[in-house]
Amino acid sequence: MIQIENIYKSFNGFAVLKALSFQVGKGEIFALMGGSGNGKSVILKHIVGLMKPDQGHVFVDGKDICHLKGNHLEEIRGRIGFLFQNGALFTSFTVYENVAFPLREKTKWGENEIREKVLMELDQVGLAGAENKYPAELSGGMIKRTAFARALVKKPEIMLFDEPTTGLDPITAHTILDLIKSLHGHLGFTAIIVSHELSRVFQIAHKVAMLHEGTIWTIGTPEEILSSKDPVVRQFISGATEGPLKFY
Ligand SMILES: Nc1ncnc2c1ncn2[C@@H]1O[C@H](COP(=O)(O)OP(=O)(O)OP(=O)(O)O)[C@@H](O)[C@H]1O
Ligand SMILES: [Mg+2]
Repeated sequence: MIQIENIYKSFNGFAVLKALSFQVGKGEIFALMGGSGNGKSVILKHIVGLMKPDQGHVFVDGKDICHLKGNHLEEIRGRIGFLFQNGALFTSFTVYENVAFPLREKTKWGENEIREKVLMELDQVGLAGAENKYPAELSGGMIKRTAFARALVKKPEIMLFDEPTTGLDPITAHTILDLIKSLHGHLGFTAIIVSHELSRVFQIAHKVAMLHEGTIWTIGTPEEILSSKDPVVRQFISGATEGPLKFY
């Protein structure tokens, strides 16, 4: 579903991605881990065509997104839900209005249809009854859930989660990752998750890749990564979890 082929990306002469390649199969949950500033968000932005590689190709469902323009690019983007890191809600909109926004922008649906869809989506993410609240009245976990509902409303085939648990306490963070897992079970989207909650991420991902020095340093099943003898991987895993990786 997603195929990244040998991409290079530099900013002001500083190479962030170097000959980076990986693939994500349809329906797979793919976790991307790596230290801060390693280029995880940059990779996700390439997949939605917000950034273009200096060299290489990014294929989404077989289409080279780097060469798509106008309606063709919009069509592919419409199939991708993106939870941006620090992604904000519209603060002057209620939860309901935030989730309805993509439908008002991208469809010609009437108010009844929109209402039915929005309330169904809020129910799915555990926010039934919160539709009239404003973002300032929400907890961190509720903000993430609202953003998730807003991304889901377009029925995306691909979901990109850029640190969906940042700023949440560990229990709420686990609940959000469990929600991703359970909705993946219902909806079957292809997902890439960037998250530092490794203990939970290792439980829900089919494949884990470690980004290091601008390239995919290691890739494998969670079991393979956990049993890796590579010192870079070992150090990252124990550092990110402040001790040996434990399952809850
Ligand atoms: N638009 C941009 N212009 C210039 N430099 C950028 C831009 N976007 C990212 N970078 C640089 O690219 C590098 C990778 O950034 P990126 O945001 O992908 O890191 P990250 O792995 O997501 O880190 P974090 O875990 O902190 O979110 C950083 O050095 C960053 O400064
Ligand atoms: Mg980032």
